[in-house]
Amino acid sequence: MSFDRSIKIAPSILSADFANFGQEIQAIEAQGADWVHVDVMDGHFVPNLTFGPAAVKAFRPHVKTVMDVHLMIAPVDPYIDAYADAGADVLTAHVEAGPHIHRTLQAIRAAGMKAGVALNPGTPAEAVAHLLDLTDLICVMTVNPGFGGQKFIDMTGKIRALRQMIGDRPVHIEIDGGVDPSTAPLVAEAGADVLVAGSAVFRGGSVSQPEVYGDNIRAIRAAVSGN
Ligand code: DX5
Ligand code: ZN
Repeated sequence: MSFDRSIKIAPSILSADFANFGQEIQAIEAQGADWVHVDVMDGHFVPNLTFGPAAVKAFRPHVKTVMDVHLMIAPVDPYIDAYADAGADVLTAHVEAGPHIHRTLQAIRAAGMKAGVALNPGTPAEAVAHLLDLTDLICVMTVNPGFGGQKFIDMTGKIRALRQMIGDRPVHIEIDGGVDPSTAPLVAEAGADVLVAGSAVFRGGSVSQPEVYGDNIRAIRAAVSGN
């Protein structure tokens, strides 16, 4: 995984057919996805449940790009090795998930993965000021985590502040929640480079109509071209 700040579209398989993850992953990659975003929820940190390390490990052989695993769980540390074993390329933990995010990020890197840190909408940019050299990706939530298909919350001020704090460091800014062709340009212009999109990519398509995924991905990319 080399570093670059070009725009990357990361479809969230939270919006995929849960009975058919392998083919869904293959379809979005064939249709132009840059990364595959995997939302892990525990019914405790967020009010919804998705899948655990065994399922993520089963996704791995289907992912040819980057498997970007977003943990919405607390605690995180007891599960880091399981997600490394599952084959996560990027493992992201929430700053709000526990008192020791610094240690968590160190442990994620020590386990051989890129370390991401996510910020809920109510958490300020300053929460990561002392973590910038320990992280490879900052995920700015533009919805309250837990569900796909929610309305975008404007966090452009926070994104700009993070972009300035990051400076020349090789740290991605990822946006998660309510990204579609109308909101993507706002976040890209503010400094984001990884755009997670669930409903805006999967809407209207299926594994038997994968070209709709391609149209949806291209619509987001076209909306931000020039950034
Ligand atoms: C929300 C998840 C997101 C979600 C995005 O808790 O972290 O990744 O799937 O879905 P959309 O793009 O539909 O807002
Ligand atoms: Zn996510």
